[in-house]
Amino acid sequence: MRKKESSLSVSIKCFIKIRFQDLSYVYRSVIAINGTIIVYGQTGAGKTYIMEGNGITECHGEEKGLLPRVVDGLFECLKSLDAMTKFTVKLSMVEIYKEKVRDLFDLSKDNLQIKESKLHGIYLTGVTEALISDPAEASQNLLNGAANRAVGETEMNMASSRSHCVYIFTIQLDSANDRRLKSGKLILVDLAGSEKVEKSGAEGKVLDEAKTVNKSLSALGNVINALTNGSPGKTNHIPYRDLELTRFYKILLVGTAEQHCCVVAHPAL
Ligand SMILES: Nc1ncnc2c1ncn2[C@@H]1O[C@H](COP(=O)(O)OP(=O)(O)OP(=O)(O)O)[C@@H](O)[C@H]1O
Ligand SMILES: [Mg+2]
Repeated sequence: MRKKESSLSVSIKCFIKIRFQDLSYVYRSVIAINGTIIVYGQTGAGKTYIMEGNGITECHGEEKGLLPRVVDGLFECLKSLDAMTKFTVKLSMVEIYKEKVRDLFDLSKDNLQIKESKLHGIYLTGVTEALISDPAEASQNLLNGAANRAVGETEMNMASSRSHCVYIFTIQLDSANDRRLKSGKLILVDLAGSEKVEKSGAEGKVLDEAKTVNKSLSALGNVINALTNGSPGKTNHIPYRDLELTRFYKILLVGTAEQHCCVVAHPAL
């Protein structure tokens, strides 16, 4: 289902051009500042479109989605480093589907555990990490992973994401001038959309999915609320442990981290 381009979606595109074209958040991940971009909004609003464009490998120039822009920006930045600095880029893709974390590069890993340790911080056990040496290889891996996502048809979106999808780029730098190995993560999150079942006409399996998605988005809202509304000087309880999405959210806040949220709205919905 293609939507007629509304003034709002045009303004969203402008926002992406202005805010995300400078790609400074990509450069910061290279110098080991973890960065996250979360795309949030109602079902059918255009979140996956913003991430992928009209196909990860098919769009060019201004039509490109966020993912290919990030990949291009990342490799441009790495190419500009001095010749003495070696780098590796790894990519993982997972989805949180009905409270289970599934590895989109290896479907046999359908229940990855989120673990916390003093040594490693918060991490996903056994997640596949594809070594990426150039933008073409990254695009191919992104396409393979995207093909494994849980997608279903509703009355509001013919190809509705039924899971939250997380793209994790891990960048490591080994510089002759610096004895420490630097590591940064750049994480993009395409959330499944909130959904009114009377509008989406969800039934059976699709209805179960919608209930899980709505519940997890509400739990995420509680976590963000607790994080932003704490009283100064008091330790506030943050309900990270409520659901898999909220447990996962803690990973996004590890270390020196910056987070951007892109809220997608569509006036026709
Ligand atoms: N700016 C746009 N220009 C052209 N088509 C668009 C635009 N935004 C969205 N669409 C189209 O609208 C439909 C719904 O978009 P999309 O699947 O990205 O929504 P979504 O927010 O990811 O929904 P869900 O939460 O159900 O996954 C798709 O067919 C997509 O190609
Ligand atoms: Mg989607």
